[in-house]
Amino acid sequence: MGLKEVSSDYTVSIHYDRRLYRQDIRGSTAHARMLARQGIIDGSEAEAIVDGLAQVRSEIERDEFPWRPELEDVHMNVERRLHEIIGEPALRLHTARSRNDQVALDMRMYVKDAIANLLEILGHVRGALVSLADDHRTVVMPGYTHLQRAQPVLFAHHMLAYFEMFGRDAARFDQARDRADVMPLGSGALAGLPYPLDRDWVAAELGFSRISTNSMDAVSDRDFLLDFHAAASICAMHLSRLAEELVIWSSDEFGFIRLSDDFTTGSSIMPQKRNPDFAEIARGKTGRVFGNLIALLTTLKGLPLTYNRDMQEDKEGFFDTEDTLTATLRVFAGMLGALKLNEGRMRDAAQSSYVLATDIADYLVSKGMPFRGAYRIVASLSDYAVERNKQFHDLSLDEFRTFSDLFDEGVLAISVDTSIDARAVPGGTGAARVGEAIDRAKQELEGRNGV
Ligand code: ARG
Repeated sequence: MGLKEVSSDYTVSIHYDRRLYRQDIRGSTAHARMLARQGIIDGSEAEAIVDGLAQVRSEIERDEFPWRPELEDVHMNVERRLHEIIGEPALRLHTARSRNDQVALDMRMYVKDAIANLLEILGHVRGALVSLADDHRTVVMPGYTHLQRAQPVLFAHHMLAYFEMFGRDAARFDQARDRADVMPLGSGALAGLPYPLDRDWVAAELGFSRISTNSMDAVSDRDFLLDFHAAASICAMHLSRLAEELVIWSSDEFGFIRLSDDFTTGSSIMPQKRNPDFAEIARGKTGRVFGNLIALLTTLKGLPLTYNRDMQEDKEGFFDTEDTLTATLRVFAGMLGALKLNEGRMRDAAQSSYVLATDIADYLVSKGMPFRGAYRIVASLSDYAVERNKQFHDLSLDEFRTFSDLFDEGVLAISVDTSIDARAVPGGTGAARVGEAIDRAKQELEGRNGV
């Protein structure tokens, strides 16, 4: 293979950037119309361009478009085809434009569209979490710290914790969308253009809220992609944590949940197995999402102003993260929707452990003892119970009283339910608070519909 063939292949991006064709054509259409409005090209030429672009688009969508790698990227492929279809007027389309501001425009439009889609699916995941909470309002489970049973909580409270996380993710995607919502066309190669352009008209035509204010920054800025990657990485991290919980909870050791057959697979050798492959793969895919963030940061970090061809490397990682996150969110919406709880196992786990120790200490506090003293007494009480292989509820009042005179009948009434109900502080797991949180969550989701 000669050097010519090797080097020309190397710069080709058409196999992935053809994905931008819709944005590229929308952008070119608006640009041509603006050129005519400003008297830079004739109205009839603009019309021919606009009609020709519509035809290009339909060829692409009918899979009849002659993609040519030797033309390198989507911009050149579309423009060349337009020329073949309409002739002369096509030669005027690239007036007052550079591929540098063109590709920045296309990516910004694409990111805005991609985020709108992701937000919709993220909404489904959040909806599935709220439904799980709503359908299991009374289900009790141990809450964990250090993966040690710590205090009883409502399962609904646990689900709503993820609702909060994904709510912050949605807000981060909103912010990333706002960062992308800047129209760069008119920056030219780097210095702006010597034509009387109406940049605001193009921005409005393409649904942008504002135009870029520095041409050099506009053609070299990929921060909006980093914002997207950062939001996506944090979201993937949250999904991975939830995936991990599903894996743990579906194990025989926990036995809290049963994942639907649609989201588990058997083992080729062990007939009894139901492996949580979907949750595991979701957890595993986090790596590539983080990787794409680091890859772009690294690509950009040494670049002088303004556009450098390195920046072409921004695309594959972006599309990969978009696809990965889209698929993973869809899996979660389905997997959560089909989740079955083993409520008995969850309650037993909360009851057959020492998760009420804090409540017993709080009980002594309610009788006037300082918390640190109460803590010490309940620590000895736990040692006593553990040594005798007993739970707190197996202890008699006399046994309690050997540790403190302040214990009376009331201590025998402490249960996982009284523990949960007592936590009526705002943000706590008390049933009334969780009920309010479910209502708020439903309202929030309704408000977000169509966003
Ligand atoms: N394919 C290029 C990219 O994605 C388009 C911009 C090319 N600009 C240039 N000056 N060669 O970055």
